[in-house]
Amino acid sequence: MRHLKRTVILTFCLSIFIFFSCHSEKLQPTKDQNFNKDWLFKKGALSNGETTDLDDSAWRKLNLPHDWAIEGPFSNTYNARTGGLPVHGEAWYRKHFSVNPLEKGKRISIEFDGAMNNAKVWLNGHYIGERPYGYIGFELDLTEHIKFGEDNLIAVQLTPQDLAARWYSGAGIYRNVRLKINNPVHIPQYGTYVTTPEVSKEKALINIKTKVVSFDSKTSKAVLKTSIHDENGLIVAENNQDITLSSEVDTEVLLTVNNPNLWDITTPVLYQAKSMVYIDNQLVDTYITHFGIRSIAFDKDKGFMLNENQVELNGVCMHHDQGPLGAAINYRAKERQMQIMKSMGVNALRTSHNPPSPEMLEVCDKLGILVIVEAFDEWKMGKVPNGYNQYFDQWHETDLRDMIKRDRNHPSVIMWSIGNEILEQGKKDGWKIAKQLNDICHDEDPTRPTTVGFNYFPAPFENHLAEHVDIVGMNYWPEQYNSILENNPDMIVYGSETSSQTSSRGVYHLPIAFKEQHETNHVSSYDVTVGPPWAYAPDIEFDAQAKEPRSLGEFIWTGFDYLGEPTPYGGRDNSTNGYWNDDWPSRSSYFAPVDLCGFPKDRYYLYQSQWTSKPMVHVLPHWNWEGKEGQDIPVFAYTNAEEVELFVNGASYGKKVKGKDVTEIPAEYHDYKKGWYKSKYRLSWQVPYQPGSIKVVAYTDNKIVATKEIKTADKPAKLTLIADRTEIQADGTDLSFVTVKIEDENGNLCPLASNLVNFSIDGEATLAAVGNGDQTSLASFQANERKAFNGLCMLIIKSTENSGIVKITASSEGLQPSTVNITTK
Ligand code: GAL
Repeated sequence: MRHLKRTVILTFCLSIFIFFSCHSEKLQPTKDQNFNKDWLFKKGALSNGETTDLDDSAWRKLNLPHDWAIEGPFSNTYNARTGGLPVHGEAWYRKHFSVNPLEKGKRISIEFDGAMNNAKVWLNGHYIGERPYGYIGFELDLTEHIKFGEDNLIAVQLTPQDLAARWYSGAGIYRNVRLKINNPVHIPQYGTYVTTPEVSKEKALINIKTKVVSFDSKTSKAVLKTSIHDENGLIVAENNQDITLSSEVDTEVLLTVNNPNLWDITTPVLYQAKSMVYIDNQLVDTYITHFGIRSIAFDKDKGFMLNENQVELNGVCMHHDQGPLGAAINYRAKERQMQIMKSMGVNALRTSHNPPSPEMLEVCDKLGILVIVEAFDEWKMGKVPNGYNQYFDQWHETDLRDMIKRDRNHPSVIMWSIGNEILEQGKKDGWKIAKQLNDICHDEDPTRPTTVGFNYFPAPFENHLAEHVDIVGMNYWPEQYNSILENNPDMIVYGSETSSQTSSRGVYHLPIAFKEQHETNHVSSYDVTVGPPWAYAPDIEFDAQAKEPRSLGEFIWTGFDYLGEPTPYGGRDNSTNGYWNDDWPSRSSYFAPVDLCGFPKDRYYLYQSQWTSKPMVHVLPHWNWEGKEGQDIPVFAYTNAEEVELFVNGASYGKKVKGKDVTEIPAEYHDYKKGWYKSKYRLSWQVPYQPGSIKVVAYTDNKIVATKEIKTADKPAKLTLIADRTEIQADGTDLSFVTVKIEDENGNLCPLASNLVNFSIDGEATLAAVGNGDQTSLASFQANERKAFNGLCMLIIKSTENSGIVKITASSEGLQPSTVNITTK
């Protein structure tokens, strides 16, 4: 086994592959129609939801993607673990549609990118198929029961259960849906697979495998034309291939691209492959594959190599929800999430703990973010009463193969994770499933390594699971990287989940304490106290990565706060399945360096100080400590510069040197248990409080490179609105995220303000959501008002399909209102 594994790793290390994205789209003459509009929805059990004579005229009309659970209301009769939102129950979606009689003879299918969950589908009363796993895409053939030129009815039943996940899953047809109309001869779903056996700056060899299916027994000959187009659409390589049709034909072609522009994290250049099928010189199908050219390798000494350059993985784990917007997929919401992550210095994502939306991979391809695509949080042994383990036996192979076939062409994807903290680690024969899943991955895609996020040290080694994946992910084991590598010299490791520090934006508790069960259910942003017992301050992982350069890097838990799992307040008693809600109203996680709205917490800047090079400096806490005059307040600075000088009301408190001057923080993890840990990543001062200002000045080479000042704010006087984009697409899906600040007369943020803000939207846009990042707020995400949390809240608006000017007004009692105009085009 070891030998086999070594060979696989060697293959990764020696070979260079190029990958091509697979967010494929169909062009004329075959059609993929966006099928999101005008669905009918009804929550509740129905015995006849699929029947054509059921009167659905009073059902709620809506467009997909849709997540019914985010509509709320929050309640502690639901589980805080899954967000305190109604993710369970039965619901039906129905859509009436017609297909032009001219399409007769064609193949008609419906493609769901994911439905949460337990989807069962009927067409015109006929059962068509089902898919239990909510995170996987699936296509169902409708041809047999379609009525051309007449009313057709698609009915979808979903029956998600509570406690089916350890986080908020959302509920509904929450990803995109397409109706596909294909000629009898066509390229099917996931029909292309592209690698290259060779790449250099001068040329790349591109291997394109294309599947062609035929439902036309009378036609035997076709021609497959394949062309590769560069960023400007120019053809850089092409080929014509004669094919003899049968029900399914697999073709393969090798093309050369000279002087390729490589896909990289700084230059994520994408190409396009166009595959066209001709019969008797008639074009019958066109299939587009967007792609990027790059090589990856994993080297046990050098780490991860992209285009032969070593790249340290500065990664985040992310669940799939989009905060106040819930789980209903939105391209702009994903793009914004990853832009914020990128600005923190992130270059990698682990899609914990399930297959992502196609849009997330599209965003990562475009932004140059490396991705570990993860399949499962459970195998046969369940972690929650209604988890995936109940479907594992029947569905895991189909789900895993489909995940890889869907995602294997994305240049951003670098590894397949077959599981997270799977309980089979603890079983003597746990390796058997690991091997089987590993083999499936290699069968569908021999060009990327497999991995698992292991956590029960040393069980996965003793029970041989670690031998059956190519790369060993280690959750929360920073002190073990070295000993594992010393004992297993051929192994490649990385921190698949790290830190799990918790905090609430803008909250500072004094004195800095070990453990906090604070009456407000908030956690201090000094970021020294933590949630679960395995958690530790980010600094400890920075040390571990620096000490073990062979580690590929780390993936912090998590990039964004997410709905559910409100550790340390409630919902973390795994052992009993007891899922207590004692600490209600906490309903969303505290783990991330940015809050649920995407507002940076202080920890965002701690990561930025390690992961970015553009000069920055950050200072905390706020400077509004009325009643604490004369008392010492710890002031922390985070920087990527050499030195920082602190000024308090204009007077210098001296310079501190990064890497030399340390900050003692209480840390409770493993070796540091209940001790004081000396962090060389934070600079600090004790400052007797007087109102006024604290200012940090950062120097490199004795030159000022960055500054930041916080002033004591006076009482709230006005609102300020800042839209992340003042011009958006009038396409019915684009979003503008509007930050609302509560400020004093002089424009200082009021760091403790919690004023209620009312919104009015005038023009071609609708309210998509509101939020404030407070993990304990049970206010609706869909109201036209929101209380500020520590001076900030957010309004998210969505365009309609009409262009125009949208005027947004925010008002609050006793404060000067504010407006912002957004143009939709
Ligand atoms: C890990 C787990 C994550 C999350 C995290 C919280 O053990 O893999 O899903 O629960 O703990 O610290």
